[in-house]
Order: sequence, then C-alpha cells, then structure tokens
Amino acid sequence: MVQPVADDAGGAEGGAPVIDADAFNRFEAAGWEARAGSYGFLSPMTQRVGGTVLAAAGVGPGRQVLDVGSGPGDLAAAAADLGADTVGMDVAPSMVRRAATAHPSIPFRIGSFEAIPVGPATVDAVVGNFVFNHVGRPEAALAEARRVLRPGGWLALSTWDAPRRNRLLGILLDAIAEAGAPAPDRLPAGPTNFRTDEELRDLFARAGFAEVGISHLQFQAPVASAGELWDGILESAVRIPPLVIHQPPDVRARIREAFDRLAAAYRRPDGSLAIPVAVQVTRGRRT
Ligand SMILES: C[S@@+](CC[C@H](N)C(=O)[O-])C[C@H]1O[C@@H](n2cnc3c(N)ncnc32)[C@H](O)[C@@H]1O
Repeated sequence: MVQPVADDAGGAEGGAPVIDADAFNRFEAAGWEARAGSYGFLSPMTQRVGGTVLAAAGVGPGRQVLDVGSGPGDLAAAAADLGADTVGMDVAPSMVRRAATAHPSIPFRIGSFEAIPVGPATVDAVVGNFVFNHVGRPEAALAEARRVLRPGGWLALSTWDAPRRNRLLGILLDAIAEAGAPAPDRLPAGPTNFRTDEELRDLFARAGFAEVGISHLQFQAPVASAGELWDGILESAVRIPPLVIHQPPDVRARIREAFDRLAAAYRRPDGSLAIPVAVQVTRGRRT
C-alpha cells in the first residue's frame, strides 16, 4: 500500500503516519512553484467543478470572494464573471504570476491557507478548488477561513473523492499499489489525500461551521489515450509523481504496465478513454 496518497479513508496501514506539517507544506509549496508552467491537464476537470463550488458559497454580484489556492485563476475568474468582487490567493508565487497574467483585472496575492493575509470578517465567501487536500494543517486552514468570513458567509471547498470512485487519480494509484512501489523517503507524510464525507463533515463542524453539507459530482473526463492520462497526471500533480519517478526502472515499468491495463477498462470504441471523475464539494456557514 502506498500510504501517503493511496489510502481511501485516512489512516496508514499499521497506524497513523508521523506528520511534519511544516515539511509537508514546504514540499507542497515547492512542488506547486515548479508546476505553474506544466499545470494544465487537470484544468478542464477542475473547471467543471467551479460552478458548483461558487453556487455552494452563494457567490453572486457584489459579494466579496476569496479564492484560496487559486492556481491559474480559473475559479476566481468565474466568480468575477458572476459579478463578485474577487481576490485570488496562492502559496506559489509562480502560480500567482500565471493567474495575474491570465486575468489582469483580478488581484492575486501570495499567501497560505493556514495564515490568510486578510483581516477578520472581511469577505462574504471563501472558495477553494482542490486545495484543501494540499494543506498540512487542515484544522488551521478552516480556522483561518472562519476568521476572514463575515457572519453568515459560506466556505466551499472541493476535493477529489476516493480513488475507487475518482478513477482520474485512482488508476495510477492502483497501479502503484499493484506494483508494490514503496513511497520514497523524500516524500514527507502528510494528512490524508482523500477524506470520507464523515471526515469532511467532522472537520467543518469542529471548526465551528454550521449547516455543513456535501454535494457529490460525477462526470466522465474524455482523454485521448492512456499515455495522455499518464503524462497529464505526472505533469500536473505534486505528491503522486515522486511515487513513480523515484522508483527503479523495473518498478516504473511494472507501474506503467498495470496502469495501461487498468486504463483499458475505460476505452471507448474510438480508442479514447472516458475516465470517471468523482468530487466532493463541502460547504459550511460561518455563524
Ligand atoms: C490542484 S491545484 C488547484 C488550482 C486551482 N484551484 C484549480 O482548481 O485549478 C492546488 C493549488 O493550491 C495551491 N496551494 C497548495 N497549498 C496551499 C496552501 N497551503 N495555501 C494556499 N495555496 C496552496 C497550489 O499552489 C496550487 O496552485
């Protein structure tokens, strides 16, 4: 079992991993800093979720909205298109530059979800598309979201559902597990990459959010080939690629063989793939 990423519900086999949240956050920040140029494959999938996240947070004209982990800025841009007064924020300066170049009318700033650089009770909505699973201290991130929200404001965060449902990541994670590839030492253990609905509800409730609810989105992502899926994930993710790249050649070959075989289950008559994608969107209201 590849403990830091492949686990479905949170625990590692044989007990909880020892987490160094600072080391984990440094690893994530450095990884995303290096990804700004190549992050692209996942964007069409994450953008399909954006409308649900914005609706869950009540984003609309005149609302003051903070997009945390804004990446290339697509969610912030969608919020601005709805007439919201939007600010984006990301821990990776290269992502901030990319977003600011793509969306010059929206302010993007550097900052961490665990220490949001805005004052208390200053925004109507906090939204985050696929960032919650990248923070070393999820409780601190939720406390920060609550701090910056005005009473009555909504927090909405999307996360990838379990790999057995979200085959976009699950195919490669299953292939890594099947090949028996150990996680390299240089990969710091972090909080689980995937959370059950119960875990998400519990985290939000313990952070003081009310009316906590989860929407589930399922759709199929069209991908031209197994090779495109392989390259896309290795170029767009941060914690999964080291599980492949840092293996010896024979293990990498076993992972690829398993990956191609598992991906073939989703092949369409024209040879392309239709990959099942599953996402949770969790929201809670600041009381
Ligand atoms: C998977 S990408 C998602 C980007 C964008 N929201 C989207 O949907 O395409 C995760 C983003 O979160 C940012 N990020 C990771 N950890 C963060 C943290 N602790 N605080 C703020 N941003 C963070 C990364 O730099 C990256 O841009």
